[in-house]
Amino acid sequence: MGGSRAKRLGQEGTRAFAFSGRSLSSALALALVPALVGVPRVTALDNGLALTPTMGWLHWERFTCNVDCIEDPENCISEQLFMQMADLMVSEGWKDVGYEYVCIDDCWLASKRDENGRLKADPERFPSGIRHLANYVHSKGLKLGIYQDVGTLTCAGYPGSYGYYDIDAKTFADWGVDLLKFDGCNSKDLNSLVEGYKYMSFALNRTGRSILYSCEWPLYIRHFQKPNYTEIRQYCNLWRNSGDILDSWSSVKSILAWTVSEQETLVPVAGPGGWNDPDMLVIGNFGLSWEQQVTQMALWAVMAAPLFMSNDLRHISPQSKSLLQNKDVIAINQDPLGKQGYRLRKVEDFEVWERPLSNLAWAVAVLNQKEIGGPQNYAFSIADLGGGLGCTPACFITQILPVKQELGLYEWTSQLKVRVNPTGTVLLKLQTFQQHQSSQ
Ligand code: GLA
Repeated sequence: MGGSRAKRLGQEGTRAFAFSGRSLSSALALALVPALVGVPRVTALDNGLALTPTMGWLHWERFTCNVDCIEDPENCISEQLFMQMADLMVSEGWKDVGYEYVCIDDCWLASKRDENGRLKADPERFPSGIRHLANYVHSKGLKLGIYQDVGTLTCAGYPGSYGYYDIDAKTFADWGVDLLKFDGCNSKDLNSLVEGYKYMSFALNRTGRSILYSCEWPLYIRHFQKPNYTEIRQYCNLWRNSGDILDSWSSVKSILAWTVSEQETLVPVAGPGGWNDPDMLVIGNFGLSWEQQVTQMALWAVMAAPLFMSNDLRHISPQSKSLLQNKDVIAINQDPLGKQGYRLRKVEDFEVWERPLSNLAWAVAVLNQKEIGGPQNYAFSIADLGGGLGCTPACFITQILPVKQELGLYEWTSQLKVRVNPTGTVLLKLQTFQQHQSSQ
């Protein structure tokens, strides 16, 4: 069992993205500001969940479909893995800074449903069952996420939910599950995929349990038709738009470039109750340099992205841990205004991103895409930020990443110079002087 991707809807073409970055003129970028500030939000799935981007841990990128508990008992998909992660989420301070959901991805299932058509976990790898695991996770003050698929089989080939939506929703509710990641492999056609996503949203609602609903609907239909985000937002709390993240800089870079190419569509649809999901944080693994980890954390905060770490909390460097637990960055990600940021401009290798925050504050990220040489200076005019409203008549600027540093009071007319390492990012917060004083 596991591994075969051949039956994905529309074959691999569904997921073959052209991650072509399209640069916006600054005039266009400025046009996004009124769109962000003034236009009423499209309605979100009204289950009271995900009022800020969801935070937690998800097994997929780091542990994939490792089902070999004989050869690799420490890293196989088993109840022990999730219990250990739950323990560490509490003992190592993850829960205290906001990471809440411990999430199971694909490959947790037995190869067949039980005699009543109910799903069951693999009996060898989850001998105590999911209800027991949920109780354990809840006893730690955390929440449990699980994975299923809208089609006949999951992406790794385990039994899918097609034809069983009500019974599966009820099973998850009975077990005490708090989040469902619903994948989109193996649907018969586009219509059954879309209808399946909608049906499962209702089925979860009908259980009466609060279950956060994470969809991959736009990702799977994008190749065939333009996703209707007004509709998607009415059914889902989170939605994946782009292909699976890998543990590499090229992967992080391509997700950013793709997000920029679609930002006029994506930015206005995000908000309390529903968020664009650029996929997991791979910080603390093998593929990203320190600078690139800083970039992922900073940009995921600016994009108001769900923060699902996929790493090994048993083996993580103090540096990666402190980045993932950085309260100032998390506060930007979780800002209650709930507006997604966007790329304001690209000048040669520098990208400037900004995100409006509550209390008239702004987050600004300057990313240096150059992959040769050393640190580079970039100077920009403060008046360009926030459509001219980022810092009027003056503001207090704090550098949040790579290290915290008070940069002081700047006037609207001044220039700001930052120094950014190759593939790194400088993340700044601009506040009114009064706000800065009261937050000290
Ligand atoms: C798809 C999803 C991934 C992961 C795998 C599991 O590729 O996009 O996030 O859930 O399936 O098989």
